[in-house]
Amino acid sequence: MRRPFIAGNWKMHLTKAESIDLAKALVDLAPSGASADVAVSPPFVYLDAVAAVVHGTSIGLAAQNLSEKPNGALTGEISAAMLRDLGCRYVIVGHSERRQFLGEIDSLVFEKANAALDAGMTPIVCVGETLEQRRAERTAEVIASQFGGSLAGMDADRIERVVIAYEPVWAIGTGVVATPQQAQDVHADLRKLLTSRYNAAIAGTVRIQYGGSVKPDNAVELLNQTDIDGALVGGASLNADSFWRIVTAAPKGHD
Ligand code: 13P
Repeated sequence: MRRPFIAGNWKMHLTKAESIDLAKALVDLAPSGASADVAVSPPFVYLDAVAAVVHGTSIGLAAQNLSEKPNGALTGEISAAMLRDLGCRYVIVGHSERRQFLGEIDSLVFEKANAALDAGMTPIVCVGETLEQRRAERTAEVIASQFGGSLAGMDADRIERVVIAYEPVWAIGTGVVATPQQAQDVHADLRKLLTSRYNAAIAGTVRIQYGGSVKPDNAVELLNQTDIDGALVGGASLNADSFWRIVTAAPKGHD
């Protein structure tokens, strides 16, 4: 059974005090033994402060990015080992905002995901098509190509430790959520890609999150789709109550 995984991507939002307050509010809401894995992803500069709040609780810590290199003269970059040192269990890799605005390409995403795995973290590797690509009915082709370049080069023992996030670019921050069927279709395609590259057992193990305008009122339907194993939440994760309503919308898990 794949355990649901709900992660809040705070992006470039909040002050230090607000980050601490939000983390504290989530810790208060989180019962021990929740049926979903939960993580928050504050900006780099607040990771340490948030780590102090969530340490020893059921809330995991995720970074929003990392360097593909282990160390070196790379001004402004942050390594996987540094993130691990701060207590990060997860790191978001290849978010569409980084692919679109910061020129991250599949081969770099692949290197970053491997750097995270090397340091013992779980990369959350993002894929997703633009509106133009969807309108041109190229969604399946785009997803297959991103899967090929960002993930498929990994050996089986590594892909099992990865979380994939399907985030259609047109649904991010727009309030236009993918319909449960649209999301399910792409998740099923990703699972087929995993089956053909690896095998059915591995495809049945890897968790695939949906992201893009997930809100408390659309979460139940999305999270109940057979191949949707959680959510990567942006805007709605900046408020403890709305994020927690999404966490509690998750079913026990899918086989
Ligand atoms: P929104 O939930 O704000 O659409 O953002 C989704 C996202 O990009 C999460 O990584």
